[in-house]
Amino acid sequence: MLKWYSLLFIILCSSCSEEPTFSKDIAPILAKNCSGCHNPKGIGPFSLLTYRQAKKKSKTIAYMTANRFMPPWPADQKYSHFIGERGLSQKEINTIQRWVKQGSPEGEQLKEPIWKPQDREKRKPDMVLDLPKIELKDDYTDRFYIVKIPGEIPENKFLQSVHFIPQNPDLVHHFNGHLLLYDDTKKSKISNSKAIEIGLGTFNQDYERLDLLQDDGSIPLRVHSAVNYLPGVFGVHYPPGIGTIPLSKKFSFVGNDMHFGPSKKNTTDQSKLHLFFTDQAPKRQLQELMLGTNGVNNGKIEPPLQIKPNSVSTHTSKFTLTQDISILTINPHMHMLGKSFLAYAIKPNGDTIRLIRIPRWDFRWQYFYTFPKMVKIPKGSTIIAEGVYDNTSQNPNNPFDPPQLVGERNDYGGSSMRATDEMFQFIITYTPYELGDENLELVEKQE
Ligand code: HEC
Repeated sequence: MLKWYSLLFIILCSSCSEEPTFSKDIAPILAKNCSGCHNPKGIGPFSLLTYRQAKKKSKTIAYMTANRFMPPWPADQKYSHFIGERGLSQKEINTIQRWVKQGSPEGEQLKEPIWKPQDREKRKPDMVLDLPKIELKDDYTDRFYIVKIPGEIPENKFLQSVHFIPQNPDLVHHFNGHLLLYDDTKKSKISNSKAIEIGLGTFNQDYERLDLLQDDGSIPLRVHSAVNYLPGVFGVHYPPGIGTIPLSKKFSFVGNDMHFGPSKKNTTDQSKLHLFFTDQAPKRQLQELMLGTNGVNNGKIEPPLQIKPNSVSTHTSKFTLTQDISILTINPHMHMLGKSFLAYAIKPNGDTIRLIRIPRWDFRWQYFYTFPKMVKIPKGSTIIAEGVYDNTSQNPNNPFDPPQLVGERNDYGGSSMRATDEMFQFIITYTPYELGDENLELVEKQE
């Protein structure tokens, strides 16, 4: 028989078992992990700033978080860790589940929105460059552009960092830019900024049309991935003296594949680049190692990247190091047929160094992943990247129905930026190893 005091215990405990409420439990989770994109100016399709907004979407929120579709962070946090990584703990996911099952109660009413836009840049940029104005139609399709953004300065300077500032953060999905440094004697005049839509010409023709070469036809010095942007990610500033670029008087940024998400209205975008200079000369230059398409060993991929229709296939690229290196940042790259991605290094003694695992590839979220501390890979190690591609009709992102043979297009030098062609790349930003590198923190600093 139930004693009176056990009944009291049950009554008391229904309140002490802490039914989660929006104000107390859910708001902090959303503010930290969601509102940065889910706000009126962000890329998320709806806002998550108030109780009513969250309640309206509560069932989808429960589904998207339990399946780890949101927040978007494709890298497996059980495999390796990176600066700025997002993701909910199992406890946070359970709290959301309990909150929704109990009818999404509000709790005590909050007086303020749960999140306010933060001023990202406290320091004023030393130079601002405008991208060309790009017209976006209301036809609700993804668009990709190659963009040239030239600049000129009266004297040589050191470039510490570059920030991409989207004008329409709800439409600009990503931007990855190289920096071309002209030999002052070989480029008499730099022309205006310009954008061309990818897919209309070949890669080489596009570069010619953008007037990127020097006057004598030679290729200027190129700094890879000098600027990159994905919604919700702050740029990483490497420690002083690392990665600083000596800037020539004439230079140009080239956005290789600026991606706009689908727009429902006719509009324009004119984003900006903010440049920050420093007096400190670079101590250590960063270098880039690229495996796969256009990469080392003549871009060797095994088996070659020709993906047969109605097949799921794995393709591998390897490289053996001839020196000790310290890795700062990595960027896996595939297009729409990508299914999963794995990269690691095998040391000469057989040990494995984990780099990254992406169990569920999502071509929309191609982060540049920076390690919290540099990762030393010793000489003689082999770096291995494996990409799995799904060219069946089960892949909802397959650009072809029925599936077709898809591969790298080798008709213009083996490179392709068209989203309907495939690529397999693993890009590593590194510097030759120096003693103590593994203890040097690459902390995310927000200026
Ligand atoms: C980096 C930006 C970003 C972050 C952070 C983010 N979202 Fe999203 N969210 C998006 C975008 C963009 C979409 C539109 C669909 C897509 O592109 O995947 C979306 C879609 C959704 C959807 C709708 C799915 C549908 O099909 O209706 C839900 C629900 C959602 N997000 C919830 C969340 C929650 C909850 C969080 C935090 C735990 C979160 N999101 C964090 C960008 C983000």
